[in-house]
Amino acid sequence: MGPGRLLPGLLLAIGAAARWAATPETVRPRVVREQLLWVSGEGRGGVHTFRVPLVVVTPGGALLACAEGRKRSAADVGAKVIACRHSPDGGATWGPTRVAADDGSAGDGLSLGALAVAGGEVLLLFARCAHPPQACGPPSTHLLRSRDGGRSWGPPQNLSGVVGNEVFAPGPGYGIQKQRAPGRGRLVFCGHGTLERDGVLLLLSDDGGRHWRRGGTLPAIPFGAPRHPRDFTPDECQPYELPDGSIAVNIRNQNFYRCRCRMVARSWDGGETLPPDAVTFDPALVDPAVAASVLVTGGLVFFSNPAHESQRVNLTLRWSFTNGTTWWGRGLQVWAGPSGYSSMAAPPPSDQGDAPLLYLIYEKGRSLSTETVSLATISIAGDV
Ligand SMILES: *[C@@H]1O[C@H](CO)[C@@H](O)[C@H](O)[C@H]1NC(C)=O
Ligand SMILES: *[C@@H]1O[C@H](CO)[C@@H](O)[C@H](O)[C@H]1NC(C)=O
Ligand SMILES: *[C@@H]1O[C@H](CO)[C@@H](O)[C@H](O)[C@H]1NC(C)=O
Repeated sequence: MGPGRLLPGLLLAIGAAARWAATPETVRPRVVREQLLWVSGEGRGGVHTFRVPLVVVTPGGALLACAEGRKRSAADVGAKVIACRHSPDGGATWGPTRVAADDGSAGDGLSLGALAVAGGEVLLLFARCAHPPQACGPPSTHLLRSRDGGRSWGPPQNLSGVVGNEVFAPGPGYGIQKQRAPGRGRLVFCGHGTLERDGVLLLLSDDGGRHWRRGGTLPAIPFGAPRHPRDFTPDECQPYELPDGSIAVNIRNQNFYRCRCRMVARSWDGGETLPPDAVTFDPALVDPAVAASVLVTGGLVFFSNPAHESQRVNLTLRWSFTNGTTWWGRGLQVWAGPSGYSSMAAPPPSDQGDAPLLYLIYEKGRSLSTETVSLATISIAGDV
């Protein structure tokens, strides 16, 4: 046998041996790099506090991170910019902050928001005047599109006609594109209302984000009434697709209905409905009522939040080998101190079958969770 015939077989064998599979032995998540992307309180660029961080891997393979830049105070209500930074090399180096949207000095202004990748574009969805009544006008929801990985954005598309009269504050987190039936290729964003008129709503697009329509809803009970402790109040939400093609939505359980833990809704029809009889509560995912993240990659489901019943501390990454029905061990504590909102992204699976990487962006501080926005790069196999 000549070398010409031996070599392909040998390469195939080496390739097969190196292919990584998720097992309790191979999954050892570890933070391999951590970077502060924004620091609050320095007044840089006229910003008082950076909050609500998001990250995606762009169609070109770069990283795009965005956050709210709250101009005058740390409060939810107030004038803001959407600040974004771009890394062409997987987070090794970062470009300067660019402003994707700026509301001037409007009394309330804009709120992040969700990022999504669709075809060659990055989509950025945000709300304006989402805390009525405010002098800045009626609440509205807007979509920006970028063809260059988030370095520049086209004109905003006002989705209020689709959303209806209620506030739709997207995410915070990312929108998904369904990989499997039903609704393969569909874009799905999740958003929520105001605290009093709360509940989650899915927005769906079957043409890459040109046209949108309302999908499933899960309203608070009672709807439109002042909230009482333990009321059913689904709030900030992150959708993800499971291997059976269903959509799960991991939801902030604002008033601790049944538990100080996460609420999970399901949809088996591509997001058209969110049936109330499919809503569950996950006592393993203890939560102080905060925006959390879920990401499916490498055959695993990952979850991140400040894992504490009442305080925003103990930012922890959990993982599941069972489609999110059970969680392995106690997870990886990423930061013991103050921490808040988080969001995750992962590069597409490599052709070589390498162990996956994970990007976790979160609010991090020493005495307050809003001091910085930090990006942790996590090797799932624990390799340096
Ligand atoms: C968005 O559209 C809604 C209704 O379609 C309108 O009331 C609102 O003023 C618009 N907002 C902006 C900022 O254009
Ligand atoms: C941090 O979260 C993990 C996972 O939920 C939990 O096991 C641990 O007790 C938490 N630590 C603190 C100090 O709350
Ligand atoms: C996860 O879901 C897929 C698709 O339904 C199924 O084939 C697989 O067995 C599930 N995994 C576990 C551990 O339940």
